[in-house]
Amino acid sequence: MSAKPFAPTVLVTGAAKRLGREVALALAAAGWRVAVHYRDSVEDAIKTVADCASLTGGAAAFRCNLGSETAVRNLLPTVIEQMGQVDALVNSASTFEHDTPESFTFAAMEKHLRSNAGAAVLLAQALHTHMAERFPATQEQPATNTGAVVNLLDQKLWNQNPDFFSYTLSKAALEAANTMLALSLSPRLRVVGVAPGLTLTSHLLDDSKFAALHKLSPLGHSSTAKDVAATVLFALQNQSITGTTLLVDGGQHLMRFERDFSLM
Ligand SMILES: NC(=O)c1ccc[n+]([C@@H]2O[C@H](COP(=O)([O-])OP(=O)(O)OC[C@H]3O[C@@H](n4cnc5c(N)ncnc54)[C@H](OP(=O)(O)O)[C@@H]3O)[C@@H](O)[C@H]2O)c1
Repeated sequence: MSAKPFAPTVLVTGAAKRLGREVALALAAAGWRVAVHYRDSVEDAIKTVADCASLTGGAAAFRCNLGSETAVRNLLPTVIEQMGQVDALVNSASTFEHDTPESFTFAAMEKHLRSNAGAAVLLAQALHTHMAERFPATQEQPATNTGAVVNLLDQKLWNQNPDFFSYTLSKAALEAANTMLALSLSPRLRVVGVAPGLTLTSHLLDDSKFAALHKLSPLGHSSTAKDVAATVLFALQNQSITGTTLLVDGGQHLMRFERDFSLM
């Protein structure tokens, strides 16, 4: 059996800022080396790398447009070349542009599906290949040799409305992929979904509206970024979870919202 030469290493997509950054920092604090993926937010990515490195001693930034299949296929090999190995993947990057069934176009669908579902599947496929090369099939597969993929989903899948239609379709595809990948890529990979509720605000919501909407749940609060990051860490640490999704949303998925939060 090959010994692991490095501390466990995780690739977090969309980790320059917002939820991806919070996940990267939580994993770094738990001892993971972090490959910080970004597309446009180079300065934020450099800051996330510096903050992760101060916690764990190993982090680097990797630029990739997840809408390009060629670029996505190059991403994991580049990370492996620079960091030596990858043990886990967190698919957090996401395109989030508004459309509805009335304004739907193939172009909008394709843009969301590529970055939000297609890239996540290709990266899982690449991680599976990497794990197979490190731990050939003839060898026993102890739990410590199992890689893991966490896919960021959305409570909106269980509480649907037609806003952000192409985004929601892409997350529905990723949720279905979560099950199929867990079946086909085991035992080398575990695949777990984490579905936040309303966690961070956007340019579409002012602070007071966000605060009011954040309270709109059976528990009286939705998720914080720290809640989501802690759940991703749990999913990576627990060796017996695969093919399921952990909803971290204060129970928002149990409610019925006619519109997306940003349009309520
Ligand atoms: N925030 C919430 O309240 C919330 C609620 C439910 C679910 N979620 C899910 O949680 C995850 C993180 O949420 P978030 O709000 O932090 O996400 P976000 O701010 O909307 O996007 C995160 C990053 O994704 C990257 N990205 C977008 N399109 C890309 C592409 N084509 N190629 C490469 N990178 C691309 C961007 O990186 P650059 O800036 O570097 O370009 C962006 O900073 C998402 O999957 C989201 O669906 C979030």
